[in-house]
Amino acid sequence: MYTVGLQSAADAFLLSSLTVQVVLALFILFALLVFGHGSSKDDLSAHAPVYLPGSHLLAIAPFFRRRFDFLNEGFRKTGEKLFQFNMLRETVIVVSGESARKAFFANRAFDLTEGFKVLSGAIPMVKGVTSELHTRRIALIHKRLVSLQKNDHLRQLIVPILEDCHRVMDTWGSSGTFDPFEKIYELVFQTTVRSLASQEIADDPALVARLKSLYDILDHGTTPTTVLLPWLPFPSMLRKLLATKEVYDIISRAIDIRLKSGKPQDDTLQMLVDAQDERLVIVGFIMGLLVAGARATGTTASWLITFLGNNLEWKDKAICEIEGLMSTYCLEAAPRASLSSNLASVPLEAWEAETPVLDALIHETLRIAQPHTAMRRNLGPDTVIDTKTIPSGAYIVYPFSDVHLNPELYPDPWKFDPNRKEANTPFGYVGWGGGKTICLGQRLARMELKLITSMMLLRFRYSIVDAKGAQPDLLPRPNWNDILLCRPDKDIYYLAYDKTEVSL
Ligand code: HEM
Repeated sequence: MYTVGLQSAADAFLLSSLTVQVVLALFILFALLVFGHGSSKDDLSAHAPVYLPGSHLLAIAPFFRRRFDFLNEGFRKTGEKLFQFNMLRETVIVVSGESARKAFFANRAFDLTEGFKVLSGAIPMVKGVTSELHTRRIALIHKRLVSLQKNDHLRQLIVPILEDCHRVMDTWGSSGTFDPFEKIYELVFQTTVRSLASQEIADDPALVARLKSLYDILDHGTTPTTVLLPWLPFPSMLRKLLATKEVYDIISRAIDIRLKSGKPQDDTLQMLVDAQDERLVIVGFIMGLLVAGARATGTTASWLITFLGNNLEWKDKAICEIEGLMSTYCLEAAPRASLSSNLASVPLEAWEAETPVLDALIHETLRIAQPHTAMRRNLGPDTVIDTKTIPSGAYIVYPFSDVHLNPELYPDPWKFDPNRKEANTPFGYVGWGGGKTICLGQRLARMELKLITSMMLLRFRYSIVDAKGAQPDLLPRPNWNDILLCRPDKDIYYLAYDKTEVSL
């Protein structure tokens, strides 16, 4: 399936000496900077969005490295609500404001997959693996995701997710400190693998750790060159290709084992195998949704737990709510039952409909700590936003900060305040997307977030401390330039914890 030639080229390149790699990479980069700058024929028509001054290759590198600053600078420098820049031969138009938001989320010709594929570049296009994931297959993957979140299947996941939390939290010991953006993310990765892949993979901690490190390569290896020039053999691109291949192999092996064993299991892989989907759909489902799911859920869980660390009022409210659920639904629980089995007695319906406090916490966390920039491609025809032409084929990006950090819509926007009401304006809150693009994994993500937060709050007393172990002077503030975890920029924070008595 995988292109053998590409594989050996990648291997050879990665094994060659660092000097050769660096010289080759520098040579290519030099050639590109000198000869390969983007099309500069600025469209001067009054209907074209204004050009960002100096939009050559080097100037747009911060789009990948410090996106929040780059986009804000663009609005500041141009003084406009829409502006454009070139990415090599492609036109990218950044939009903001109420009417742009409405047009962005409603226009059926604005395609998410095309926009994301080119501008994000987390998973490289590998012939026979990711390149074949066309619209038809993506639609089938989405259909399977809907089946995965039907009541029966979601209900089945509650116990294994709680058991994963129990097992991983055991490894933390009875007290200590850790970086929430590492450990909570690790835990979410485990529960997401549990939810989306197979029991065999999820039960093997070494394999889950390996998968996580491969996804880290895919995420962190996204550089301007891997996105703009994916065909260039830069070390980062080759590492990404090898990582993609290894993820593919791990999932493919799990499929083979399941098919050969003939023993059905209660997991997502079984659902996909039973549906008799082709291998590419099964691999695409697990591989692609792990990217979509683990990062977003991991970032949200890390921040939610961090925000609660020093917010006693909301921490108490959440603990009260969870204890209330347990006392309603665990009437027959054995006195020495574990926390995870007590939480497992709370039915799915109650997790979904009787948790206003957890819902408010998730809602506010997504407003303030989800540094998403939505990306689309206009599949045509040309269209108009705010009197400016958006040509067919152009890429359009909409930063969520335009609405979620807008002080006119959310006063004192950096303040974590779960009491806030949603801004009363079209698409005033897009935490789970908007219009024709709503998160398709929302039900699963919300359930994971609630189960993990509940385990954390009831199992540990914890607070957020600074590098010296003291109460921090300033509370952690999400850094939107870190598009993966939104992790604070300069200050380092830790979570200091010790076990409670209910932590069996
Ligand atoms: C807290 C966790 C999550 C958050 C905050 C989140 C948020 C979002 C948002 C904002 C979008 C729209 C993106 C855009 O308009 O550019 C989206 C789309 C999507 N999400 Fe999530 N997501 C989460 C978890 C998940 C999980 C766990 C899965 C899968 C298992 C998933 C699957 C998807 C898919 C497939 C789409 C694309 C929908 C489409 O093409 O119409 N998400 N998500």
